[in-house]
Amino acid sequence: MTASSPLHLSDLPALRAAVSAWRTAGETVALVPTMGALHEGHLTLIAEAKRLASRAVVSLFVNPTQFGPTEDFARYPRDVAADLAAMARAGADAAWTPDVATMYPLGFATRIEVAGLTDGLCGPLRPGHFSGVATVVTKLLNQVRPDIALFGEKDFQQLQVIKRVVADLDMAPEIRGVPTIREADGLALSSRNRYLSAEERSRAPTLHAVLADIASKARDGGSVAEPVSEGIATLTAAGFAVQYMSVCDAASLAPVECVTGPARVLAAAYLGRTRLIDNVPV
Ligand code: PAF
Repeated sequence: MTASSPLHLSDLPALRAAVSAWRTAGETVALVPTMGALHEGHLTLIAEAKRLASRAVVSLFVNPTQFGPTEDFARYPRDVAADLAAMARAGADAAWTPDVATMYPLGFATRIEVAGLTDGLCGPLRPGHFSGVATVVTKLLNQVRPDIALFGEKDFQQLQVIKRVVADLDMAPEIRGVPTIREADGLALSSRNRYLSAEERSRAPTLHAVLADIASKARDGGSVAEPVSEGIATLTAAGFAVQYMSVCDAASLAPVECVTGPARVLAAAYLGRTRLIDNVPV
C-alpha cells in the first residue's frame, strides 16, 4: 500500500474504528456515496470533500434495492481496483465497500418512502427507486456518521429526496450538492455513458444543448410550454425517446408554467438502450 492509498474497509466495526480514531484526533469527516465506476464527476466530489473536511470516505456499493427488475443492476460496471486507484489519485482517505449481507442482513425489513418529491419526474418511471436510494443513503450516513455528505447535482431529484430525508429524520450531516461535471461538448458525466455506442455518443450532447436553450428562454419569465415542446421535438428528431422534460421549482420539484424563482429544467430520455438524465438551473 502506498502512502496515498485509501484504507479499504469492508466491515462495520473497522469503519467505525477508523472514523472514531479520526474524531478522537479532532478531525472532521466527509462522505461521498457512490456506486463505483468512478469518473471525473466523482473525483470532483472527493476533491470538494477534502476541501470541506479533513477526511474523505467514499462508499462503493451497487445498491440492488434502487434498480427495477428490468434495469441494469446486473450489467452496472464494477471495478473496485480501478475505483481504489482513482480514489488514491483524488486523495480519499477510506473506501467503504460493504457487501449486500452487511447492508441488507437476513430479516432486513425497513424502507424509507419520501412523498411529494417523488411523485413526478423519475419517480413514477422507476417505482421503488427513490425508496431504495433513501434507505441506502440513510444507512450509509448512519454507518459513517460524517459531518457532511456530497452528492452530484446531476441526480437533482435524488439530491432533493436525500435533503428531505435528512431534515425529516433529524439527521446531523449537512447534505451538499455539487454542480454537474460535463464533457467539453456538454454531456453530463455518468457511469452509464460507457453504454453508448460511438454513434450514440456523438448525438448525446443534444440533451444538454436543449435543456440549456429552454433554461435561457425560461429566464425571460414567459410560459415554458412552447420551449419545452420544441425541446422534445428536437430530441425526438435526434433519435431520443423522451420520457419527460419539465421545468420545476428547484426545491419542491413541482412543475412551473412560468419561472418566478429558483427553477430547474430536467429531462430523462433513452438514446438506444441507454437512459440519460440531465438538468440545468434556470
Ligand atoms: O447516485 C448514486 O450513485 C447512488 O444513487 C447513491 C447515492 C450512491 C445511492 O446508492
